[in-house]
Amino acid sequence: MADNTEEKVGADSPVVVVANRLPVDQVTDPDGSVRWQRSPGGLVTALEPFVAGRGGAWVGWSGSAGEAPEPFEQGGMSLIPVGLSEEEVDHYYEGMSNASLWPLYHDVVEKPEYHRHWWDTYVQVNKRFAERAAAVAAENAIVWVHDYQLQLVPAMLRQVRPDLTIGFFLHIPFPPYELFTQLPWRSAVIEGLLGADLVGFQRPSAAANFVQLARRLHDLGCRRNQIDYDGRVVTAKAFPISIDAAAFDELARSPEVIARAEEIRTELGNPTKIVLGVDRLDYTKGISVRLNAFEELLQDGALEAPGTVLVQVATPSRERVEHYVHMRETIEQQVGHINGVYGSIAGPAVHYFNQSMPREELAALYRAADVMLVTPYRDGMNLVAKEYVAARGDLRGALVLSEFAGAAAELKQAFLVNPHDIAGVKNQLVRALRIEPAEAAKRMRAMRRHLFRNDLEHWAGSFFEALRGQA
Ligand code: ADP
Ligand code: F6P
Repeated sequence: MADNTEEKVGADSPVVVVANRLPVDQVTDPDGSVRWQRSPGGLVTALEPFVAGRGGAWVGWSGSAGEAPEPFEQGGMSLIPVGLSEEEVDHYYEGMSNASLWPLYHDVVEKPEYHRHWWDTYVQVNKRFAERAAAVAAENAIVWVHDYQLQLVPAMLRQVRPDLTIGFFLHIPFPPYELFTQLPWRSAVIEGLLGADLVGFQRPSAAANFVQLARRLHDLGCRRNQIDYDGRVVTAKAFPISIDAAAFDELARSPEVIARAEEIRTELGNPTKIVLGVDRLDYTKGISVRLNAFEELLQDGALEAPGTVLVQVATPSRERVEHYVHMRETIEQQVGHINGVYGSIAGPAVHYFNQSMPREELAALYRAADVMLVTPYRDGMNLVAKEYVAARGDLRGALVLSEFAGAAAELKQAFLVNPHDIAGVKNQLVRALRIEPAEAAKRMRAMRRHLFRNDLEHWAGSFFEALRGQA
């Protein structure tokens, strides 16, 4: 139990964010020293600048198993850690969240596994998050719960704190009735979400799936995007997430980043064209798709290495989950094979980095890349695509983007591809590599116009406005 001074951190917060991870992860170095580093993923990219600017509290896991560290202040936020035991990390995070819900919600790209002991731990951990949020939220506060790891929190929170206004936002896709109903605990999940006043999704189709599930599974009265539940009205609506476009643009225009982009090109041996992929190492991201397309283009002679190189940055992710272990082996074998056949003394065809990189380095890579390849089989949004567009204030570069990423509904001037159609991906990649500068500028300008109008502030602002309207 924390002492009194520490217990006050974050107490009586008018706005509380609840997410599986804190914006920073606790890491222990080999010498035993402990430090905090930025957490991976799009959720943190989007939310951190929003919460930091408003002095709210953020309830989340520290990223490693064990006792929760004491609450602390950082970057103008009160961070309230939630502890998870080894077994809870195994069952709640790696199991139920990332081996059941993640593949189910991403069109069963990999087969989900369902285990009752994983579910039991999911319930137990959701309860802990709800209790922690209830303890720090001021009377009538707004609590904003995030993502598939915490779908039961809204109802659990409402039960103990009916005074709160509760919003929920799902960062990943939400499947249709026919897929969702595989889930043995389908009714409990829908009831958990119905605890919120407002349930936000990336796409209108996802909100419609949720309303349909409430109607068909629970026989609830629904009018368009509103559900009558327990004497309240729950609204389901799309709020496509975004980035702080102006801040990313400014970073990418800085003399340091521009100089680094030139240096990267030199370090890569001055190729004529640089193709770039930046992802968490996740099977939904379609990294193999782009490696296959690139390899076939080298084989066909349509591209030549090292005149054209592919740089793939893949942040390690969920490394103990089986599907991720296999996928990493497959990708690394593919990279080894392509370089064995098409590399030369002058350099490899694929430069592969299984590392997390600082934002400045990513911005320089975006700035250096002639073509950005974003080819997920399914993705809630994909903020990497938006970061690339924000970084190209020079109006150069081209984006190849999967139709199955939420971002495709907005970045319509990208070269859209079906990642299941390898011939189509190859075609679009070649078109993007051969684009005329005037055409590239026209497409990039249109995408930037959309992005700057629909930035992070717009996303969070419109969610909050709708949520306050529900209160
Ligand atoms: P997801 O939330 O599934 O990880 P997104 O594309 O929406 O996917 O968000 C990924 C975020 O993580 C982006 O902000 C991106 O810049 C960041 N990121 C991706 N790869 C790396 C990397 N290798 N190093 C640092 N940050 C990365
Ligand atoms: O929305 C996708 C998501 O699961 C986020 O919750 C998180 O930001 C990101 O992917 C990273 O995943 P993890 O927290 O499992 O490393």
